[in-house]
Amino acid sequence: MLMNVKPSFRNLVIPVIQVLIFLFLFKAAKSQDNKSSAIDSKYKKGMVVCATPLASQVGLDILKKGGNAIDAAVAVHFALQVTHPEAGNIGGGGLMVYRAANGSTSTLDFREKAPGNASANMYLDSTGKVITDLSVNTRKASGVPGSVDGMVVAHKKLGSLKWAELVQPAIVLARNGFKISKRLANDLNRNRLEFVKNNPKNTYLINENGWKEGDLLIQEDLAKTLELIRDKGREGFYTGPVADLIVAEMKTGNGIITKADLENYHSVWRNAITGDYKNYHIITMPPPSSGGVALLQLLQSVKKYPLNKWGFNSDSTVQVMVEAERRVYADRSKYLGDPDFFKVPVDSLINPVYNQKRMENFNWNTATLSSAILPGNIAGYESDQTTHYSIVDSQGNAVAITTTLNDSFGSKVFVSGAGFLLNDEMDDFSIKPGVPNMYGLVGGKANSIQPGKRMLSSMTPTIVEKDGKLFMVVGTPGGSTIITSVFQTILNVIEFNQNMQQAVNAKKFHHQWVPDVVLTEKGALDDNCKTSLKRKGYKIEEKGAIGRVDAILVTNDGYYEGGADPRGDDTKLGW
Ligand code: DON
Repeated sequence: MLMNVKPSFRNLVIPVIQVLIFLFLFKAAKSQDNKSSAIDSKYKKGMVVCATPLASQVGLDILKKGGNAIDAAVAVHFALQVTHPEAGNIGGGGLMVYRAANGSTSTLDFREKAPGNASANMYLDSTGKVITDLSVNTRKASGVPGSVDGMVVAHKKLGSLKWAELVQPAIVLARNGFKISKRLANDLNRNRLEFVKNNPKNTYLINENGWKEGDLLIQEDLAKTLELIRDKGREGFYTGPVADLIVAEMKTGNGIITKADLENYHSVWRNAITGDYKNYHIITMPPPSSGGVALLQLLQSVKKYPLNKWGFNSDSTVQVMVEAERRVYADRSKYLGDPDFFKVPVDSLINPVYNQKRMENFNWNTATLSSAILPGNIAGYESDQTTHYSIVDSQGNAVAITTTLNDSFGSKVFVSGAGFLLNDEMDDFSIKPGVPNMYGLVGGKANSIQPGKRMLSSMTPTIVEKDGKLFMVVGTPGGSTIITSVFQTILNVIEFNQNMQQAVNAKKFHHQWVPDVVLTEKGALDDNCKTSLKRKGYKIEEKGAIGRVDAILVTNDGYYEGGADPRGDDTKLGW
């Protein structure tokens, strides 16, 4: 067409078209930045990767103000409560792994606890049958929230800016409102009926006409609750008006959280558990996370195999990883629970020799049946919608936090007048031996319900060192698939030379002993791989998305490279 244009007009049009094409490509490249596998711009002073662009911005602003990684984490946590109500929370709990720039490590367990009036059979009827949904969508499903105490305690020990400065950005977002994303609009609309059913007198998060992308979400009650937390710290949540509102909410249904439960809630510093994989050192979460133990077990189980030679998601690689997962999840079902209530044989479980031995009985020619795998024999054994954020600061302090309400929007119970949702974390207990929870996970005595006990978690916030230096900060939501997603993300970088974003983007697969099936994202395994595995007897099923990993890698030349999961609105921001 341009051939027919007069020369003078052509001279004008061609540059204009070139500029338009350039602008279009530039814009496309920019909007892809978050999703692509390209290496980031060079960031050395700090980075935040979390579930929403607004919360990432809040975290980056804190880093730029001179805050450290913990300051940024606190600000991000509260900003996620406002901008990511599916999982961001003050009504839930979480787990934190921290590595200071000098290499010292600690972990903070702010997981919810069973209320004082909880009991082993509280979700069973008189005949011993599980009452459908009682541990999920009711006031009785909530554990005592730990997030606010966790943030206060982390800040007291490791923060540097003033507490009020860190809570304030969330208050502004809640009071002034923010434009919701398409994803949040869809999530809210999808849950509307449950919200209405569970909260007949409360319109928080409910829009009768349906939410649309770009609608303003204002949360005035939440702003007031956050102001109490800003001004009174822990006391602003666990005592006074907010505690009164939580207990009042319990009384409108079958809830059992009391004022004493709230007052008595305390998070716990625990030593990190660690293990080596080649020249990498893994620092991860101890129980009540099962994730840290399982991750170390998985890495030990596959360590002696030449994954790198076999290649990313090749049939041999997948087979070995699946067989390791089958065995490790069997152990999880028996040996993992709250260490304050149950003696978890951590050292025996993460022992490299034990895990390599467990792998000896699999047969290359045929899938091991899960029914043929029992939890291993451990000497001395006494008879077992979440969100993640990764942050590093200019000094090299690093923090990995995974936090959850359990289900998306938790129990779907709003605390009337206080503007937040309560968790349904009690479902993470084994509510009856052998009966699967909402993620299909089974358990027994180690994870039975007892008053004041923490329910077992799969959350796996993890930090990796290489040659003694910070290398990776990683974690993800995803229920039972958390552990295997973290496992794969680490191997994608270490064994398959992917950069951080590629490792996050890479399609994932998952096996958890029972059910005996390999779950995969569409496109995770190519046809050859699937045919080979199926011939050996593996059952393969496609599942929507697996994981939503937010991670940071430190490159050889000391720059921070982010991986923000394109499966969500996750955003990496550095400076
Ligand atoms: O702690 C756990 O293992 C679960 N409550 C996590 C739930 C979860 O990851 C849901 N998100 N997709």
